[in-house]
Amino acid sequence: MPDMLTITRPDDWHLHLRDGEPMRSVVGATARVFARAVLMPNLDPPVTTVAAAAAYRDRVVASLPSKSTFTPLLTLYLTDDTSPAEIECARAAGFIIGIKYYPAGATTNSASGVTDLSRVYPALAAMEKCGLPLLVHGEVTDPDVDVFDRERVCVERVLARIVHDFPALKLVVEHITTREAAQFVAAAPAHVGATITPQHLLWSRNALFAGGLRPHAYCLPVLKRETHRQALVDAATGGNAKYFLGTDSAPHARHAKESACGCAGCFSAPLAIELYAQVFDAAGKLDRLEGFASFHGADFYGLPRNAGTITLKRESWTVPASYPFGAETVVPLFAGKALSWRVAD
Ligand code: NCD
Ligand code: ZN
Repeated sequence: MPDMLTITRPDDWHLHLRDGEPMRSVVGATARVFARAVLMPNLDPPVTTVAAAAAYRDRVVASLPSKSTFTPLLTLYLTDDTSPAEIECARAAGFIIGIKYYPAGATTNSASGVTDLSRVYPALAAMEKCGLPLLVHGEVTDPDVDVFDRERVCVERVLARIVHDFPALKLVVEHITTREAAQFVAAAPAHVGATITPQHLLWSRNALFAGGLRPHAYCLPVLKRETHRQALVDAATGGNAKYFLGTDSAPHARHAKESACGCAGCFSAPLAIELYAQVFDAAGKLDRLEGFASFHGADFYGLPRNAGTITLKRESWTVPASYPFGAETVVPLFAGKALSWRVAD
């Protein structure tokens, strides 16, 4: 078993950085390890225009530690009213990597999301035409669909329809959590990919109830059964270029998680690559980590692979109990627990 692993510097293809002081608190954790990250647009108000995305990018860049070469890649938040003209403008802007589809009401700050797929057909047609990818939060929100079935039903009712009706549209199924989503992506054309988070690779839904209710393990799509976790590990570690790293690190202040109605989202940025290393190590596939973390996403988006490297060492360390988050604190995944891999300085 190797005790050191040097890989091309990775990218995070799905990240929530928030804004203002909270963003300034967490951006360094991602910039330390990742060369680029795709920033999700579910701010309040959501990032729905190219002008808003440019301003957000500037705020993020201004908050980076000095000498950081981290590059934020922006997304626009798709609404029922997003015009084909805004899509073309996003494509021309260069720094916008895709358009994020939240079903209305599916998750944090998704109230302005899409209410019905047919309403965004003009925008999807414009994206297919100009080659701008669609990034989908793959869950239906119908109240009669069980929360653990929301992704599977979305695959059947929404994703299959998108792939059928827009055969050339580049599509990323974000943070997949089920065997059905992994299979859908595997069977789809090469321009359909998926991101996978560390928590969905490490935990089944049992983690939500281990000895009591665990709000810091709660994210959306919610953790699934162990059989799904195993299917995701097979997908991530199998060497298939359709699957790539997207942490979905989604910080919320401690009080918003430890609440009678706790927010969805797991904060993993300060330990994300270490968690993925643990997963690949446990699967005996450490040699496949570089493809998943550093090559597949860049290749999918048609961007150059990064030039630098990072080195991971097999070394035990304890995850801090919390990190600063503006005037508050945020509790990371594995708070107070020991991890077996660490990025060397
Ligand atoms: C995300 C957030 O908090 O912004 N939460 C989550 O549980 N993943 C939103 C999202 O990606 O669904
Ligand atoms: Zn997310």
